[in-house]
Amino acid sequence: MSVLKIPDGGGDNITLLEVDGCLYPNSNIEDPVDIIKGVRDLPIRDDDVFVCAYPKCGTHWVWEMVRLLLSSDTDTVIEKDELMLEFIKGKVLEKFPSPRILNTHCFVEQLPRGVFEKKCKIIYILRNPKDMAVSLFHHHKKLICYEYKGKWENHLSLLMDGKVDFGSFFDYMKDWAAVGKTHPELPTLTLMYEDLKEDPLTGIRKLAKFLNVEKSEEFYHKVKDLTSFNKMKEAKGKFFKAPDGSAVMYRKGEVGDWKNYFTVAQNEAFDRLYKENMAGCDINFRYSLK
Ligand code: A3P
Repeated sequence: MSVLKIPDGGGDNITLLEVDGCLYPNSNIEDPVDIIKGVRDLPIRDDDVFVCAYPKCGTHWVWEMVRLLLSSDTDTVIEKDELMLEFIKGKVLEKFPSPRILNTHCFVEQLPRGVFEKKCKIIYILRNPKDMAVSLFHHHKKLICYEYKGKWENHLSLLMDGKVDFGSFFDYMKDWAAVGKTHPELPTLTLMYEDLKEDPLTGIRKLAKFLNVEKSEEFYHKVKDLTSFNKMKEAKGKFFKAPDGSAVMYRKGEVGDWKNYFTVAQNEAFDRLYKENMAGCDINFRYSLK
């Protein structure tokens, strides 16, 4: 394990934690290495549900939809990070009642062994990588643990080289795209951030069906309302505040914000690299909504 300071394209460093060759946020939690190393052996329950996504693809949003569907508890305010595998001790996770909604940014083979044995339900979320890139830039700037003061134009090289927490998003997307073949035993529902933005109710109904939850249409509308960007920001924005007071996990919540950041040259370089890296793995991303 070591704490690394990795320079971006302009020489500004991002601070990350390296454990067994993988990169993680260098958060100030107690025993971060033990927690990360313990993920594979976490005791898993039959009815544990997993929400999995590369960072900044909508994990908080979908986690909250799942929580509301499974618990019907519209009063409690709890953030998904309290049940995140990479940050929370197994002993603490043990205290949560079933069904637990665990979440992680890890690769398929890094999931706890018990997930495969128990054939736990997995919800996997994808987001177009250009909006994800912009979101990740702000995430790195706002959370003090990264100690990152760089500029957008130099940050992108970190992401493209996989020198960010949780590693290369190309590798991540390919790994998860293959989960149906590598682990056909795992019941997996894949959702796209853009589809949820366009039509959250359809996404909520899909989730309910996958989770064997039968609720009224009225309740699904309530879930839609409670998981709107503004409602979530209002209820949970307090959990991760940037030094400027803004809510780190609830920034804009839009599709197409990347157009405000990518230069033509960056866009071309990105498309080129995407094509090279994702050959044979066709993912139909939408980069804007009509
Ligand atoms: P932006 O930075 O583009 O706004 P994650 O939860 O995986 O960290 O993803 C964070 C991204 O999801 C952020 O994107 C955040 O604003 C967006 N997000 C969070 N809650 C949302 C919601 N209820 N509706 C739409 N987007 C949401």
